[in-house]
Amino acid sequence: MSKKLFIETLGCAMNVRDTEHIIAELNKHQSYSQTQTLEDADLIIINTCSVREKPVAKLFSELGVFNKKKKIGAKIGVCGCTASHLGDEIIKKAPYVDFVVGARNVSKITDAVLKKGTVEIDINNDETNYDFADYRNSLYRSSINISLGCDKSCTFCIVPATRGDEISIPSQMILNEIQKAVDSGAVEVFLLGQNVNNYGKHFSDKTETTNFTQLLQLISKIEGVKRIRFTSPHPLHMDDEFIEEFASNPKISKQIHVPLQAGNTRVLKDMKRGYTKEWFLNRCEKIRTLVPDVRISTDIIVAFPGESDEEFLDTLDVMEKVKFDAVFNFKYSPRPLTPAQNMPNQIDDATATKRLQRVIELHKEHQDEHMAKLVGQTLEVLFEELKPNGEVFGFSDNYIQVFVNGSEELLGKIVKVKVTSASRTSLKGEVV
Ligand code: 5AD
Ligand code: SF4
Repeated sequence: MSKKLFIETLGCAMNVRDTEHIIAELNKHQSYSQTQTLEDADLIIINTCSVREKPVAKLFSELGVFNKKKKIGAKIGVCGCTASHLGDEIIKKAPYVDFVVGARNVSKITDAVLKKGTVEIDINNDETNYDFADYRNSLYRSSINISLGCDKSCTFCIVPATRGDEISIPSQMILNEIQKAVDSGAVEVFLLGQNVNNYGKHFSDKTETTNFTQLLQLISKIEGVKRIRFTSPHPLHMDDEFIEEFASNPKISKQIHVPLQAGNTRVLKDMKRGYTKEWFLNRCEKIRTLVPDVRISTDIIVAFPGESDEEFLDTLDVMEKVKFDAVFNFKYSPRPLTPAQNMPNQIDDATATKRLQRVIELHKEHQDEHMAKLVGQTLEVLFEELKPNGEVFGFSDNYIQVFVNGSEELLGKIVKVKVTSASRTSLKGEVV
């Protein structure tokens, strides 16, 4: 008989993919259907994120609620980056938690469910040759890991301590997985890694030499692949070859995440980001010149330890120059296992809030400017969902949400749409 799984996914695209892997692995041995109702679940899993402090603090109160509401005999598991970071501390603090499986140990999920008290958190575990079972949330999009872990040591970031050293997944495995996904109806592939354009530096098999640009070329040769997206590239590794491939390969979606973090070169140095303000601006300028309709998104951290008011102005200056299409903005959050938590001149919350507000306000102006320009243009949209109100929803090639009136015939197809109106975050249009 099928069991019921309640799974909550926090954090980044890597976690969303790990959740798909968890579901696939569980179903190898026992059929599970997903439920949104906690009280119905036989198995409850939280796939956690530890990048900022708040969600971690929330974890234990949430676990307490889950424990009260769950039906008798239901199991509770904690997966993801906070599992890697806190390990058996989680079970010590919340003894009703049945198992803990870290972000680098997803392949161990089935055994963990069967054995109460399991803690699998080895960050050196190599899953690059592990053949995960198939499962994807979307009929049309297939998310594929191309690397695990991170080889950087940005001083604010806990990820290298939770996801471990970087390993590049053999290209043949990636291509096989994409072929399988395409054969079962996927048209878009979404390549995932902490620093995707660093791909190829850390193969277990030292004879393999494929780099990210070459990987993109190989993937685009697969006939059924209509659209390729990836996240996140690192600004440091945006060489000309990569940007030129991004610009000229028609299958690559013209949306790119270029995580700035901070605009000031001294602050970037303290963050150990490996690039300067000028390099960042130069890369974005090259991208915008070669791909005029590109959408550039970014991550910004305000109030990193020691960032002066004047240095913060460099972040606003980069925003003015690049005019990002989307900004994920964060107040610096001190994390365990990171050097920045011990740096002098930690910045007070009131200052951080003021800076964040300025980032948000400036970004709104840029968003409105970009979106207004799109009215009247024709975009190529991949439709993926029929809404109850009769609208069909999809993403344009440069990854903007687009709604049209239509039917399920549009689903899974890439269709030309003329934009009729724009809000700050989405477009409406008509199929042409
Ligand atoms: N504080 C605030 N934001 C952080 N990020 C990573 N670590 C921290 C931290 N300690 C942000 C970065 C990163 C994104 C995924 O999360 O901007 O790119
Ligand atoms: Fe964290 Fe930096 Fe690695 Fe990104 S590149 S995961 S910010 S250490």
